[in-house]
Amino acid sequence: YGQLHTAAKNAGLLFFGTATDNPELTDSAYLAKLSDSTQFGQITPGNSMKWDAIEPGPGNFTFAAGDVIANLAKKNNQLIRCHNLVWHQQLPSWVTSTAWTPATLTAALQLHVTTEVTHYKGQCYSWDVVNEALNDNGTFRNDIFFSTLGEDYIKIAFDAAAAADPDAKLYYNDFNTEFPGAKSTAALNIVKALKAAGTKIDGVGFQSHFLVGSTPSIATQMKNMGTFTALGVEVAVTELDIRMPLPPTQANVAQQQTDYQTVTAGCLTLKGCIGVTVWDFDDAFSWVPSTFPGTGSACILDDNLNEKPAYFGALAGLTGT
Ligand code: G3I
Repeated sequence: YGQLHTAAKNAGLLFFGTATDNPELTDSAYLAKLSDSTQFGQITPGNSMKWDAIEPGPGNFTFAAGDVIANLAKKNNQLIRCHNLVWHQQLPSWVTSTAWTPATLTAALQLHVTTEVTHYKGQCYSWDVVNEALNDNGTFRNDIFFSTLGEDYIKIAFDAAAAADPDAKLYYNDFNTEFPGAKSTAALNIVKALKAAGTKIDGVGFQSHFLVGSTPSIATQMKNMGTFTALGVEVAVTELDIRMPLPPTQANVAQQQTDYQTVTAGCLTLKGCIGVTVWDFDDAFSWVPSTFPGTGSACILDDNLNEKPAYFGALAGLTGT
């Protein structure tokens, strides 16, 4: 059978990729699969480029773990989607506990973004500059950035990233934006506002953490992602996984295969969708069971790195079979 990234390239996409995380790299069977660039032409660090990992103390930058992923990608001839610069989670406590003023937080934000993007300059295909700024009802999440700076923090972050690495594609990345609705409209408004202000934004990432049977149809994806590409930004599926209640039933396993196929076929169909990234590829390293207890089996390979029907669904969507 074919290989995912090779199939994606043959179909005109830039990549099929996966998230990974530093502790997983000690598993040699996993590492061999991850390093097969015919399967994964792109990797995303699951944790090691986040704020708490990169700047644990103010002005104290530690790039070692992020560098491991960047160097692995280079060695394997894989693109990296660098993830992420500004997010309300995985912030070090000094960020969440300081009594910021707009001026001091602007300076801290600029230092963080500028230093990290400069360090990885030339290495990142793209940066998830701002991650998950929105609530599901389309309002801005009232995190430390929004409560101090209002929505200006988004522009501040994108401007700093653009100045530090003009060649990296700059993305807004979120979940529950994969279908039309208040949150998707709000994400669209972020793109419009940045563009109106003359700020560089190149892409929007649709995380796509789905529950089996709830994956948007190809028509829905076209309608939704198409409103973004119409603004002149590219789009990507950035964190795909499709969870199900445990234990898996035959019906859910079959539905999951269909759902994976729907997502890859949707990206292929929409001009301007550049690639699909799964949020890790094997069930053993999935974030799902710890976050959604009672569910799992969300990935394309099982705990023993064997291809599941989901794998063949993803592949079928890329080969049009
Ligand atoms: O680093 C500590 C370690 O020191 C400690 O010993 C260990 C004990 O639990 O925890 C470690 O931190 C964990 C961290 O991953 C690094 O492994 C956190 O508990 C754990 O909550 C954290 O989970 C990550 C999660 O983001 C945090 O929200 C997942 O691995 C990561 O896959 C997940 O990724 C996010 C994307 O960035 C954004 N979109 C949603 C996606 C899934 O939640």
